[in-house]
Amino acid sequence: MAMHYNAILLCWLSFTTVFSQTDNYIVHMDVSAMPKAFSSQRTWHLATLSSVFAGSKARSTTNITASAKLLYSYTHVISGFSAHLSSYELETLKNSPGYISSIKDLPVKLDTTHSPAFLGLSFNSGAGAWNVSNYGEDIIIGVVDTGVWPESESYSDKGISKIPERWKGECESGIQFNTSLCNNKLIGARFFNKGLIARNPKITLSMNSTRDTVGHGTHTSSTAAGNFVEGASYFGYAPGTASGVAPRAHVAMYKALWEEGAYTSDIIAAIDRAIIDGVDVLSISLGLNGFTLNEDPVALATFAAMENNIFVSTSAGNDGPFPGSLHNGAPWVLTVAAGTTDREFNGVLTLGNGVSVTGIALYRGNFSSIQIPIVFKGECFDLQDLFDAKQINIVVCEEGNTSLEDQFENIGIANVTGAIFITNSIDLESFIPTQFPAIFVNPKDGETIKSYINSSSKPQANMEFKKTNLDNKLAPSLTSYSSRGPSLSCPSVLKPDIMAPGSLILAAWPENILLELINADGTFRNFNLESGTSMACPHTAGVAALLKKAHPDWSPAAIRSAMMTTADTTDHTFGPIKDIGYANQPATPLDMGAGQINPNKALDPGLIYDVNSTDYVKLLCALNFTKEQIQTITKSPSNDCSSPSLDLNYPSFLAYFNARDSESNMTTVQEFHRTVTNVGEEMSTYTANLTRMKGLNISVTPSKLEFKAKNEKLSYKLVIEGPRKIEEGTIFGYLSWVDSKDKYVVKSPIAVTSLLLDTIGS
Ligand SMILES: *[C@@H]1O[C@H](CO)[C@@H](O)[C@H](O)[C@H]1NC(C)=O
Ligand SMILES: *[C@@H]1O[C@H](CO)[C@@H](O)[C@H](O)[C@H]1NC(C)=O
Ligand SMILES: *[C@@H]1O[C@H](CO)[C@@H](O)[C@H](O)[C@H]1NC(C)=O
Ligand SMILES: *[C@@H]1O[C@H](CO)[C@@H](O)[C@H](O)[C@H]1NC(C)=O
Ligand SMILES: *[C@@H]1O[C@H](CO)[C@@H](O)[C@H](O)[C@H]1NC(C)=O
Ligand SMILES: *[C@@H]1O[C@H](CO)[C@@H](O)[C@H](O)[C@H]1NC(C)=O
Ligand SMILES: *[C@@H]1O[C@H](CO)[C@@H](O)[C@H](O)[C@H]1NC(C)=O
Ligand SMILES: *[C@@H]1O[C@H](CO)[C@@H](O)[C@H](O)[C@H]1NC(C)=O
Ligand SMILES: *[C@@H]1O[C@H](CO)[C@@H](O)[C@H](O)[C@H]1NC(C)=O
Ligand SMILES: *[C@@H]1O[C@H](CO)[C@@H](O)[C@H](O)[C@H]1NC(C)=O
Ligand SMILES: *[C@@H]1O[C@H](CO)[C@@H](O)[C@H](O)[C@H]1NC(C)=O
Ligand SMILES: *[C@@H]1O[C@H](CO)[C@@H](O)[C@H](O)[C@H]1NC(C)=O
Repeated sequence: MAMHYNAILLCWLSFTTVFSQTDNYIVHMDVSAMPKAFSSQRTWHLATLSSVFAGSKARSTTNITASAKLLYSYTHVISGFSAHLSSYELETLKNSPGYISSIKDLPVKLDTTHSPAFLGLSFNSGAGAWNVSNYGEDIIIGVVDTGVWPESESYSDKGISKIPERWKGECESGIQFNTSLCNNKLIGARFFNKGLIARNPKITLSMNSTRDTVGHGTHTSSTAAGNFVEGASYFGYAPGTASGVAPRAHVAMYKALWEEGAYTSDIIAAIDRAIIDGVDVLSISLGLNGFTLNEDPVALATFAAMENNIFVSTSAGNDGPFPGSLHNGAPWVLTVAAGTTDREFNGVLTLGNGVSVTGIALYRGNFSSIQIPIVFKGECFDLQDLFDAKQINIVVCEEGNTSLEDQFENIGIANVTGAIFITNSIDLESFIPTQFPAIFVNPKDGETIKSYINSSSKPQANMEFKKTNLDNKLAPSLTSYSSRGPSLSCPSVLKPDIMAPGSLILAAWPENILLELINADGTFRNFNLESGTSMACPHTAGVAALLKKAHPDWSPAAIRSAMMTTADTTDHTFGPIKDIGYANQPATPLDMGAGQINPNKALDPGLIYDVNSTDYVKLLCALNFTKEQIQTITKSPSNDCSSPSLDLNYPSFLAYFNARDSESNMTTVQEFHRTVTNVGEEMSTYTANLTRMKGLNISVTPSKLEFKAKNEKLSYKLVIEGPRKIEEGTIFGYLSWVDSKDKYVVKSPIAVTSLLLDTIGS
């Protein structure tokens, strides 16, 4: 289903290694056990490794072996190192002073002009986020990805301020990459592959440098912060001026994902380096499914980023629409779901009687303007019949007992001249970048086509492509592939957090890499359309850059809060945002989080819910992680677990009413405590407004918050009372704090669920 836009993922997944008894390990060490004699953690790590090898080898060679086996000595992200070890050596290492725990290095998968305008960012809005932040000027966005194609116009530094003095990063030289390729836009370029190479010693790297040979990193980084490029388009579709969300921000690329594979040891090293270099925002469009917070390298590494005041945007994953399918559910990052934009790509079928029918299409070629015969072939399941029809005809297929997938495949095999698919499906995104001329029409238009064919003695038609319609009122909708909550790694915090554009996003592409969506005909372009939560994540990273510029004193949690409490929950029809994965039913907070990001509103949210590292530690304690497990996340040997609490000061609410209890008709009560900080006007009064939630008693005390000063903090309590078993499975609602001047609505989603966590997820 999702195969078109996941083609890149597959090349990572299919990457296999020859079995060997050695492996890469990420080793957590207790830095308080480091003897004072060592000048740095690295020398301590080397000495620790040396003593492991000392048993088996001559002393003179152990130091050499140690430095060869040490992949990275980490400093910020975790306290410890990664090394290539045999299982025997690992066992020996476990007896070393300061050893806490270790995990095996793991392969990782990546989760691809118009979107800033769709988000309400434009030149001439006097008060918008672009204006107030000066397009994100001076902010540094670090991107951990497949590298960058520095020649792309999106990295032109025209109009970009000079490199901030605090910047400690570098533009590393390598194959087809030297420092002169960086400029005031692309200010950093580093690459990390020691883990990949240790796991695969015989590997030949296609490009041993930060240069992108995949396209993904060029696309995500230019989505976040690409400069303005006029005349961008995808074969005539989506024409216009392309730009990133924060077009004047600086970009630093950390290449840790390779065409040949990707490993967590390299990703941790990349994030470690980004923290040292001084990025302000990190965009991480990758993730690992099924790991606990203390073992998930992205969760570990991003905790350190949060402590260093770096905002981290991550992708929820492309494993939807199933509950519990998301990754990157750590409470200290922003977890981003993918939505559609209002941009629709069309083709037009003009029948011999002059009647035109418009449908969905993304065919890149041209079609002959002369009319050719059109035939109706029912469900298009008889291949021989299609072969007979192929040369001179436009073949019309209608969905029925034969699925659209099967029809699509048959038409592809038959190599028809042109095809019309009559379908009810609302989830066409993965089909439409066709290799053959094809238009997808709805059943109503299908009737028009069928009755023309049936009534004409010599039915004919022609097709036109490359039409772009910017008026799809059902936008934004949640995509079906976007991974869903709850977060199995931290179930008490509602995830995902927010939705951003992820479908068919136009952004820069390496000009010598075959376009991914359709790659058979050897076409190269400097812009490409890609889909996935990978594409949604850099949008929010760009918004974070704008907010950070406008509010330099805001913490990462404050920025996240501003995004979430001002998100839109309605589409352009003013109805609730729909979920393509569930037949256009309203998307719930467990699917899209707080809603569609709205950067202009996020600039001035009124109130914020702030969280700091102490609060996250209290949460980890309440999640029953052991002392050592918490230490692997925080690096600190002393974590105060005297007041554990699952009740994080988060701008959303998720309550579990356990249906497994025998007395399922008894009532249960859950309380949430929150503290909001006034970042709006000095004197302001907010009143709580709750949506009705069927079968539940919900109350807020106090129901009025009266602020007398800026940055004043006030607390409230939300109490939810209801039956142990929620008949509907999950009930949703919203708590909004509305200020008396009607300027601010600070909105939080509420979900009350009977979901049993151990029965969901992959
Ligand atoms: C090995 O490293 C240790 C500590 O780093 C050092 O004291 C020792 O001299 C080194 N040995 C050799 C043979 O280089
Ligand atoms: C912001 O808007 C004001 C008023 O329209 C304008 O004078 C100013 O130049 C704008 N700033 C930017 C960075 O666009
Ligand atoms: C890649 O380049 C770095 C220096 O830029 C070099 O140290 C390393 O050996 C190279 N690795 C491979 C596999 O070519
Ligand atoms: C860097 O590479 C560019 C293009 O490949 C080349 O023109 C330039 O001379 C190189 N600069 C240095 C300092 O090597
Ligand atoms: C398609 O038509 C456009 C103009 O209508 C032309 O510029 C373009 O070269 C054509 N493409 C192909 C592949 O023939
Ligand atoms: C689909 O299959 C059902 C049951 O096999 C059959 O009754 C029905 O006529 C079929 N529909 C079409 C359009 O072929
Ligand atoms: C499909 O048909 C066209 C012309 O009808 C031909 O040029 C092309 O080679 C065919 N492709 C395949 C894969 O058979
Ligand atoms: C074609 O028309 C005939 C008679 O008008 C009708 O019986 C038949 O169902 C029609 N077929 C289609 C595919 O619309
Ligand atoms: C976090 O905030 C609490 C008050 O809400 C404060 O007591 C604590 O010291 C803060 N922790 C850090 C690391 O700033
Ligand atoms: C943690 O352990 C305590 C005591 O065993 C238990 O009551 C609580 O439900 C556990 N919490 C979680 C989140 O599993
Ligand atoms: C709950 O159900 C049990 C048996 O189904 C019944 O005996 C009891 O009265 C019910 N309690 C309430 C509060 O409705
Ligand atoms: C309060 O919420 C209701 C919906 O539950 C909404 O109709 C109403 O407009 C809200 N009031 C304010 C002041 O936002």
